[in-house]
Amino acid sequence: MKKLSLLFCALLVSGSAAYAQQSSKKQQIISMANKTLDLAVRQYKLMMQHVPDSVLPRTTNSKDGSFVTAKTDWWTAGFYPGTLWYLYEYSKDNVLKQEAIKRTAQVEVEKNNKGTHDLGFMLYCSAGNAYRITKDPKYKEVLLTSARSLSTRFNPKVGCIKSWDHGRWQFPVIIDNMMNLELLTWATRTSKDPSFDRIARTHANTTMKHHFRKDYSSFHVIGYDSTNGAVLARNTAQGANDTSAWSRGQAWGLYGYTLMYRDTKDKSYLAQAQHIADYILNHPRMPEDLIPYWDYDAPGIPNAPRDASAGAVAASALLELSRYTRGETSARYWNAAEKMLESLSSPAYLAKEGENNNFILMHSVGSIPHNSEVDVPLTYADYYFVEALLRYKQWAK
Ligand code: GLY
Repeated sequence: MKKLSLLFCALLVSGSAAYAQQSSKKQQIISMANKTLDLAVRQYKLMMQHVPDSVLPRTTNSKDGSFVTAKTDWWTAGFYPGTLWYLYEYSKDNVLKQEAIKRTAQVEVEKNNKGTHDLGFMLYCSAGNAYRITKDPKYKEVLLTSARSLSTRFNPKVGCIKSWDHGRWQFPVIIDNMMNLELLTWATRTSKDPSFDRIARTHANTTMKHHFRKDYSSFHVIGYDSTNGAVLARNTAQGANDTSAWSRGQAWGLYGYTLMYRDTKDKSYLAQAQHIADYILNHPRMPEDLIPYWDYDAPGIPNAPRDASAGAVAASALLELSRYTRGETSARYWNAAEKMLESLSSPAYLAKEGENNNFILMHSVGSIPHNSEVDVPLTYADYYFVEALLRYKQWAK
């Protein structure tokens, strides 16, 4: 009996020591996140001063270091306003809010664009955050119109939203498209029209069937026959080759199935997100700092460029996935995200104030096969990084 009580006391003491250690680690990361977010606020207030009115920040030209912008119809247009909304939410700085309002209004014109699948990226990240934060009904109208435009690209014979109107495929669908489903599930919750949600679920189910290999890595592009949904091609556009695991694509899939589980509570989406997370985290070529090379099968590893954007997207998704899982599994996802945020907040990836054309992160990759945006800052790396830092602060509690 005495032995049992001693054992019980020892367990209690070691349990509370582990708890204290965990919570002091969380405090440490929260204070790191605050420092990084303070820097991000200062960087974006500097950036504001040199973004021409007619365009939006995109990246840096790797040859001459100049600031590269994009028009509103480029897929990344919504990330700058989205990041401004997040930074306003953090800082309550009215200067950021005014710039966020102006830049969200600028992107709004794309709500009628039926020529791209990227409306979720462009409008849910901008107007979606604007509506979440301000509750101004004008943003609701923008989002519902965008959801209707996106829905026109759904083909029931294929069971997917068409990604591109260009390229060699009859009906191309890319893994990135999972990210646009959030706009549709939101639209059903808000309008009570079930058709948006039905499209999102059908797209996610079709993608689950055809986009993944046995090891749960994903192809980048699936080419479908638009008349009967047959798979005609499995290719890459931005990865190393057709059979490789393009890092950002893996992160889009992870984030996409996590958000589909959040919005539907369908357990098959949770299982899929976990399979993808496990593929990434157990990958033998995942570097120690958990910021992936641009492709898990990139030539030249360990001397291949890293992709900080893939790390930022994965970190944000893993924090959320950790909330839908329990015990050791949940801790594994949380700890991996924590490590990614620590790495991204270190001088290896985080820009110094006033440098990097005022983007927050360095060292992302747009598309190596197109020799475009190699080892540069990218507006979406900043967006998902800031989102992940805010998520960490909110959920660590
Ligand atoms: N959605 C395009 C990309 O991830 O580069």
